[in-house]
Amino acid sequence: MPASPEEVIALLRWYAEMGVDVPVDETPADRFAESAAAAASAPARMPSPAPASQPAAAPPRVAAPAPSLLTAAPDAVVLAAREQAGAAQSLEELRDILDRFEGCALKATATRLVFSDGVPDARVMFVGEAPGRDEDLQGKPFVGRSGQLLDSMLAAIGLDRTKVYIANIVPWRPPGNRDPTPQETTICRPFIERQIELVNPKILVCLGARSAQTLLGVTDGILKLRGRWIDHEIGGAPRRAVATLHPAYLLRQPLQKRLAWRDFRAIRAAIGEG
Ligand code: URA
Repeated sequence: MPASPEEVIALLRWYAEMGVDVPVDETPADRFAESAAAAASAPARMPSPAPASQPAAAPPRVAAPAPSLLTAAPDAVVLAAREQAGAAQSLEELRDILDRFEGCALKATATRLVFSDGVPDARVMFVGEAPGRDEDLQGKPFVGRSGQLLDSMLAAIGLDRTKVYIANIVPWRPPGNRDPTPQETTICRPFIERQIELVNPKILVCLGARSAQTLLGVTDGILKLRGRWIDHEIGGAPRRAVATLHPAYLLRQPLQKRLAWRDFRAIRAAIGEG
């Protein structure tokens, strides 16, 4: 029985969710063979001889194509990310630079950059892992189900988005909500570090293991890491940092909310100190 239009639309939605964004044929195509055949059949270009009375003209100068960061060696991309992030003198500049940065392949599949939410003079900054579907559509971190839970956890300690700053390690949604690869995380890391430097919060809260491992240089799992305060320094500014359970994990494991509640009460107390 042929699929109904609703079924076809649902299937296409599911493909898009899974990160499929390029239609391909049912049989594999050998693109290398195709381009080799095209090159072989192209008429050979013979240089036209210069008139005898005139000296041969110099060949026209063709500008070399700008080297693409996407095809550069990983070390060169990280170096470029560090240089570009370091050049930003304000959060607006950093956002602009990041929006133009071509070194992370995630940018090509994401709808838009998800830079931040909250206020830039916040005393506490929360850093998650990577945007999901809702964040990708709205361009703001933590606006889906995880974000709603984060909002209620903030409210429970008297905070909201007018008092905190929120960002992610990776600012583009990985296709199909897969985890960012270690390479994508390494490439994006200079930008989130510069973002922390520019916000200069008193307290840094890492949401989830990947955020803590990337920013705090720790390797333990989140259940071991959470609630442990660490003296953290970026760009010479010392601050206190702590990891807690990611809201998405708490949605799957609601009983663990009691641990997150402990962490949030400690965060509230740390904000109040000094
Ligand atoms: N999970 C994250 O880590 N960040 C978001 O912005 C949303 C969900």
